[in-house]
Amino acid sequence: MCGIVGYIGNKNCVPILINGLKRLEYRGYDSAGIGIIENGNSSIIKNKGKVSALEERIHNMNLHAGLGIGHTRWATHGIPNEINAHPHSNSNNTLFLIHNGIIENYQTIKTGLKKLGYHFTSETDSEVLVHLIDSFLVKGYSLCKAVQLALNEVEGTYGIAVIYREEPDKIVVARKGSPLVVGLGENENFIASDVSAILAHTKQVVYLDDGELAVVSKDNFTVKTISDKEIEKEVHEISMSLEEIDKGGFPHFMLKEIMEQPESVRNSMRGRLLIDEGTSKLGGLTEVVDRLVNSKRILISACGTSWHAGLVGEYMLEHIARIPTEVEYASEFRYRNPIIDKDDTVFLISQSGETADTLAALREAKNRGALVLGICNVVGSTIARESTAGVYIHAGPEIGVASTKAFTSQLVVLSLITLLIARKKSLSAPEGREIVKELQALPDKISEILKLNDKIEELANEFKDANNFLYLGRGYNFPVALEGALKLKEISYIHAEGYPAAEMKHGPIALIDENMPVVFIAPKDSTYDKIISNIEEVRARGGKIIAIADDGDGEIDRIVDHVIKIPRTIEMLSPILNSIPLQLLAYHIAVKKGLNVDQPRNLAKSVTVE
Ligand code: F6R
Repeated sequence: MCGIVGYIGNKNCVPILINGLKRLEYRGYDSAGIGIIENGNSSIIKNKGKVSALEERIHNMNLHAGLGIGHTRWATHGIPNEINAHPHSNSNNTLFLIHNGIIENYQTIKTGLKKLGYHFTSETDSEVLVHLIDSFLVKGYSLCKAVQLALNEVEGTYGIAVIYREEPDKIVVARKGSPLVVGLGENENFIASDVSAILAHTKQVVYLDDGELAVVSKDNFTVKTISDKEIEKEVHEISMSLEEIDKGGFPHFMLKEIMEQPESVRNSMRGRLLIDEGTSKLGGLTEVVDRLVNSKRILISACGTSWHAGLVGEYMLEHIARIPTEVEYASEFRYRNPIIDKDDTVFLISQSGETADTLAALREAKNRGALVLGICNVVGSTIARESTAGVYIHAGPEIGVASTKAFTSQLVVLSLITLLIARKKSLSAPEGREIVKELQALPDKISEILKLNDKIEELANEFKDANNFLYLGRGYNFPVALEGALKLKEISYIHAEGYPAAEMKHGPIALIDENMPVVFIAPKDSTYDKIISNIEEVRARGGKIIAIADDGDGEIDRIVDHVIKIPRTIEMLSPILNSIPLQLLAYHIAVKKGLNVDQPRNLAKSVTVE
């Protein structure tokens, strides 16, 4: 969602804020702004559009300040325009605020403030916060106290940063439901919604937890609760490097991240395979492994691509580890009054570790006594921290909004978890060793698939003008069909649907004609014969068929229009390989349509609102 950055120190904050915002742009990108204070002067500059538009606007302004905050917005209330962009300010332009989240009771607060004579300029929920804080400042409270008092009246979620001309020695930040970190430097400090914004300046960070507030000056910081209880915080060292969050010569982050998969998949397994024993070792689960293995049931909750990974996990856990498993959208789970008890294990899968619905599902499951385990990419993220235990996927920073390498790494980690449980239950050592061998072979096989990039680009050229796409798969590859369709629709804006191939005849078959490309995921597995019958059904109705098939499948060529042949692996791991050509297909179609693949319209990388 929105990105937040702030600086206090002796340097000019303007380039620091702009560069930080550029790093955060993947979180939200419909408008951006900065607010700065220096020598009793305070100014806000904001713009509709990208951070580059803001940068251009301030280029000749010769701005200089040691204190400032910046924001990149993903609209929730009010259209993307200059007025709705952050920072928001009080009426005399002395108090600036940036906000990520949603203030649910903003209408009630607004009505009360209007009665006090406050005037609102924007349509946002965030603007009420700045006036509410102001209403306490005018009563003589300090900035910190005014923020605390204001937040006591607020319902909803927030990560906020506030600066005030009358107290120019501090930034006050607070969080509830939206991430915030304080970055520590020498005679300078930083605040951000995401470490990538400040990584160029410091690797020492303090993560705020929900209900906490920090007062950050250039050489100190203090953390307390909103209700004013002082808190000692641990300082964390970030291991991520700046190079890891750059494009590294690729035209887009998405392509870089697709191409990184041999390495990211290898990193997800590094040090975690016990070759001789035919099992896995997951340090993050050591303390809870008995409880996990003896769970009566596993629930997996997630959103979007992570939910698709969960669906593959369901096949793995039931098929190989023989534990009843259910997968549910986190947004449904949290409001459904789910039946969960202490014999259940609930896995929360989230690349960002900040998705609001997934976090709420975690808290619901924890409340009901289940073992709560996180599968996250972002180290130190809220879901990772609030889980009882968990496994990091170690895919490295994923900046492109469409999730690619995180998906394949989530699948690797799910297969490691499956292996761990299965070997403690009924899977034999030779069977375990077979899975380990196939896992080890994945990076090379992925490299082979990536060599098909040019061929897939040609295919994209042929299909870029299609208005609809159907993706069909069975068994383990039904979720891959869903994921292929999601990738295409989110970056190319082509309507695409994923279905279990057999379901096609219960409705979607009516859509098939010569204008409908149908992508079949057709590895030579236990469902192969059935999927060939489904391909014939589409062929009989004139649909254009693209198949993802195994190397060495000589039969399929004669019944499809195009085939992408990829190396074979065992059924349980085939989604990892099959998803990669679909990522490339979506990528090339979007590029050929001239679209912004890394920042597709209306989307945000980290969905911190409900
Ligand atoms: C799709 C995509 C989204 C995310 C979803 C969950 O490419 O990126 O569907 O998968 O918003 O995000 P995380 O995994 O961060 O919880």
